[in-house]
Amino acid sequence: MNKKFSSLTMLYAAVLLAVAMLPISCTPTPPPTPKDLAQEAIIPLPVSLEATGSSFRLTEKTDIYVQAGNPELERLGQYLAGLLNPATGLEIGVKTTDEAPASGHFYLALGANDAELGKEGYQLEIAETTVNLTANEAAGIFYGIQTLRHLLPAAIEKPEKQEGPWEIASGKIRDYPGYGHRGSMLDVSRHFFSVEEVKRYIDLISLYKMNVLHLHLSDDQGWRIEIKSWPKLAEIGGSTEVGGGEGGFYTQEQYKDIVQYAQDRYIMIIPEIDMPGHTNAALASYGELNCDGQPRKLYTGTEVGFSTFCTTKDTVYKFIDDVFRELAALTPGPYLHIGGDESHVTPMAEYIPFINRVQDIVAAHGKQVVGWDEIANAEMKPGTIVQLWAGAENAKMGVEKGAKVIMSPASKAYIDMKYDSTTELGLAWAGYIEVDTGYIWDPAAMAAAEGVDKSVILGVEAPLWSETVTNIKEVEFMAFPRIPGIAEIGWTPANLRQWDEYKLRLGKQKARFEAMEINYYASPKVPWAAQ
Ligand code: ACM
Repeated sequence: MNKKFSSLTMLYAAVLLAVAMLPISCTPTPPPTPKDLAQEAIIPLPVSLEATGSSFRLTEKTDIYVQAGNPELERLGQYLAGLLNPATGLEIGVKTTDEAPASGHFYLALGANDAELGKEGYQLEIAETTVNLTANEAAGIFYGIQTLRHLLPAAIEKPEKQEGPWEIASGKIRDYPGYGHRGSMLDVSRHFFSVEEVKRYIDLISLYKMNVLHLHLSDDQGWRIEIKSWPKLAEIGGSTEVGGGEGGFYTQEQYKDIVQYAQDRYIMIIPEIDMPGHTNAALASYGELNCDGQPRKLYTGTEVGFSTFCTTKDTVYKFIDDVFRELAALTPGPYLHIGGDESHVTPMAEYIPFINRVQDIVAAHGKQVVGWDEIANAEMKPGTIVQLWAGAENAKMGVEKGAKVIMSPASKAYIDMKYDSTTELGLAWAGYIEVDTGYIWDPAAMAAAEGVDKSVILGVEAPLWSETVTNIKEVEFMAFPRIPGIAEIGWTPANLRQWDEYKLRLGKQKARFEAMEINYYASPKVPWAAQ
């Protein structure tokens, strides 16, 4: 080899090596940033938390390891990577492993066999070198991932690359919910919301560990689900909405897509077909559901209490059986909601046998009934659940007949109520519900005041009726920031819930709401943090 060439090559190699080493020698890996886990704004507030004062940093080398042999964990690993990669610009991958990985990685594992954590709890151990997330069941891993979102800078929620650093305060969190039922109801009947809008709502409530979305699929103004055996329900009943807009309905395929999307986020969809009142859209679609056999006119106003099925006609029960058969087949969860509220033009002597018979129909399709609190006037068949909204005495009567209770007291949990007199959207018949009013109550204490024991309370649901709410941005304005409060009531023990402390954590959600482009109400009750 030519000597001159070889020494030039060596010089070149030496320069290359020096250049390659430059970034290492000039920017040594910075030491972990001290961070206090106890100061992080996690909603719902975890049950227990120990801070260790340091942090875990995401780097180019970070991956997500999941215990081998569990496709659900792999899916959750991919979900976590999908949350982290866009804003960090990292290419965090998902790898399977039989044992805890080496330093620098996330590790998701099941089989904690930890009775205290239950079905939905998780344990998160964050050290400088690793983030270990363990749970008994996959839902717990999902909720641990939501906590990790809250521990990362709000910019993690943005869809394109942002400046780091991406650090997570170190320590240990053990966390599990107080109630198994933590949800919201969306009225897709008064105004119709598209599949994409419903998915957005699912995404938003899942950040706060809610696990139920109750869809109010039928009312006087609209029928929103395709029923193949009674096709005019969707065709005619789905053709308009409050104010006379074009309405809409979900095909069964679209509805299945919503159910799956929710299930992937550990959210159960509870479908509601309201009856015997709130039925004008069905009565307009099929004349035979009326006692006089004549179809009603479609209705686009906002009055309530004027419609009823003809409860003495066999056709009506054949219709209900068909509807619930098709709906049961679309519903992996245990519940079908039968409404039952405000049936002011159904005589009580007809209402009671009607509700009894409908409970039997639902049971015959292998499902349990949920109904608004008026259904407690009927018998309570095994498994029936009463949803308290206005009549605490109804809920008490239901419990005395063996029912369990979901708490949705209108004066606290109805997120279609205005925040104050200046709120343009919403109604006010149950009062104004400022953010503090919506937070400062306890389902068990409220039930106890009526003589109902905590043991029969399944949890909480925040209904969002849509007489005045026409699109997802308006939904967001009414739901945020009240949804995080209801979610915390459902998750965090009552003795850890204090408005003066909560409002600071809520104020720190501002940057996250903005990163997620949530159209929230900037309540003057909340000290919104600058960033
Ligand atoms: C209801 O608000 N009518 C349940």
